[in-house]
Amino acid sequence: MEILRTAPNPWGQEVLVGVAWDLLWAALIAGFLFVVGHQLYLWIMAPKREKSPPAATEQVPERVERHSSASRTFHWLMAATMLTLLVTAFFPVVGVQFAWVTIHWIAGIVLTLLIIYHIIHATTKQDFWSVWIGRKELAQALGAVGKFFRRQPAKEERSGKYPLDQRAYHNAVTLVSVGVIVTGILMMFGVDTWFWASNPYFLSDSTWGLVFVLHGLCGVGLVTMVIAHIYFAIRPEKRWMTRSMIKGWITRDEYLEHYDPAMWQLASGSAGAEAGADTASADPDAVAPA
Ligand code: HEM
Repeated sequence: MEILRTAPNPWGQEVLVGVAWDLLWAALIAGFLFVVGHQLYLWIMAPKREKSPPAATEQVPERVERHSSASRTFHWLMAATMLTLLVTAFFPVVGVQFAWVTIHWIAGIVLTLLIIYHIIHATTKQDFWSVWIGRKELAQALGAVGKFFRRQPAKEERSGKYPLDQRAYHNAVTLVSVGVIVTGILMMFGVDTWFWASNPYFLSDSTWGLVFVLHGLCGVGLVTMVIAHIYFAIRPEKRWMTRSMIKGWITRDEYLEHYDPAMWQLASGSAGAEAGADTASADPDAVAPA
């Protein structure tokens, strides 16, 4: 399997020009193996879920707001942009030829602006740290890995708003997206855009090569991550989460079954994870998270 592409420069030296497209197939196979591996894990050793959720407490309303309309709009715009980037990057690789570069960098700028918006929104209106892995989550992850290798079933624990697996996914996607954005912006200096003409001397040959390799690695990494994300979104037992990304709310039973009310506290007022204007739910019966 080829990992890197090289080509001769004007002086006849072989220089790096990007990743080899065998990696795209490797990323697709990795996504497929993840899906199959997770399904096998569920059949063989996943914990059996208690069917009955704990008795509903008086304080929990029938519908609990999980995502504000601002968060949902951000999510779906980002998803559309990400799919546009993947299609424009990889369809030509698999033989579907079209003028992809302009659509690609425009989508790249849209993604960059969306991420800047997301950082500001998360800092000012949400609990910024609720989705990152800290020392507690690392210990929890090591414990879970240990149990996996001892072939003990994982313990089904109720969590705060974002459980370990979602935090891990968010951390990984953040890292790879920052990689693709930083390298993508540098690569824009190498193509004709609305703002400037291409400048092949903006970076040295070897630095261009490195930037293209990093962009390609992050890009194929996103292929596997997007497959895993869509797989979970359509799994029957996760559809309540997908519904909450469409409609904004989860039911009282879903809240009590999956979350620890001490770790994700509900407030009927506006304070909390999405304080201020964002707590206004599309559904008047939904109560904002604290
Ligand atoms: C899901 C995210 C992205 C993926 C999967 C992706 C993937 C790719 C791939 C595979 C290439 C071809 C690289 C090569 O030939 O070695 C490419 C080129 C490029 N990408 Fe991205 N990219 C993404 C995001 C971005 C972003 C955010 C920007 C800009 C801000 C961007 C700007 C560019 C530019 C300017 C090129 C160079 C086109 C050329 O030289 O002809 N990309 N991208």
